[in-house]
Amino acid sequence: MNWKQALEGMNPYKPGRSIEEVTLLYGLKEVVKLASNENPYGCSPSVKEFITSDAIQHEIYPDGYASTLRSKVAAKHGVSEDALLFGNGSDEIIMLIARALLDKGTNTIMATTTFPQYAHNAKIEGAEIRQIPLQDGQHDLDSFVRAIDNETSVVWICNPNNPTGNLIPSDRLKAFLEQVPETVLVVLDEAYFEYITAANHVDSVTWLQSFPNIIILRTFSKAYGLAAFRVGYAIGQPEVITNLNKVRSPFNNNSMGLAVAEQALADQAFIDHCRQVNHEQRQRFTQYAADKNLHIFDSETNFMLIEVPGDADQAAEQLLQQGFIIRSGNALGTPGYVRVTIGTEQQNSDFFAAFDTLLVVEGSAT
Ligand SMILES: Cc1ncc(COP(=O)(O)O)c(C=O)c1O
Repeated sequence: MNWKQALEGMNPYKPGRSIEEVTLLYGLKEVVKLASNENPYGCSPSVKEFITSDAIQHEIYPDGYASTLRSKVAAKHGVSEDALLFGNGSDEIIMLIARALLDKGTNTIMATTTFPQYAHNAKIEGAEIRQIPLQDGQHDLDSFVRAIDNETSVVWICNPNNPTGNLIPSDRLKAFLEQVPETVLVVLDEAYFEYITAANHVDSVTWLQSFPNIIILRTFSKAYGLAAFRVGYAIGQPEVITNLNKVRSPFNNNSMGLAVAEQALADQAFIDHCRQVNHEQRQRFTQYAADKNLHIFDSETNFMLIEVPGDADQAAEQLLQQGFIIRSGNALGTPGYVRVTIGTEQQNSDFFAAFDTLLVVEGSAT
């Protein structure tokens, strides 16, 4: 068959190990998944109640315009309804952006290391990928500006960045946006927005009028605790949204996903609670790393990138055998580190105990 040439040498997405797989493999009673930055507190109780009700008409197609969720999200952000695009997770929106704007002859700019789906989708579209190394976990925005030329179509900014967790200070990001030509779409991927506690952080939605070439990605998969339902959304200028809608499939969100997202959005007290407890637990990770003399990146998310003694794959395997699924930095482009989702207080205490065993093996326990 005549596959696109760009697919040559590419691999399908390889998910991390599942709880079921690890339970069987090691005969463990309890396995904790701290690998994909889901919400360890689940979702709002009102969502759980809704799921068990009989509220969805299964036989009819979903609302392809996501009308009711759209009006609620628009009201929450103070934007017009035509400034929103809903996707099957923000993953799908990343794909739509690449599909609509990238092609042979264009180039696209992103950090390395960052969320891999930007490069993955750009590659499929045949665009040239320009990767700018992080500096101390931060986007090197000056080098981003230098990399932009007439063929640049899309710039991807993951903020806070996955896998480092670093947040770009708002004044620096704004100064960067002022230097980007209006013909270049700047994607601000804010999947972890709800976890940010940094003082002086400016909500980028307030920049939409001054910078018509930005598009902001948010998701219900992280703090809202709805990863299984696959609902993400983009906020941008109506003209940008209209063009992306041209490449969107008609019923890309299912009815249950749209309905539970609406329920979850209504419970902002749950989100505030999760932000607060996550912040407290984040500080425990920082303290743990300091006590053990390990490097840890500053995170404004619900995950931490922490140094491990020795090889990261081996560390991940040892933690797996103790019932913790985390991500080895080798697979993320950050060898020497593992990325761990911040769990509940108890999960984190147990995780620290498991991590201690890595340090004993290396003879560097303190
Ligand atoms: C930075 C970032 N963007 C986007 C996504 C995709 O999220 P979803 O497709 O579940 O909305 C993730 C998921 O891990 C992420 O970390």
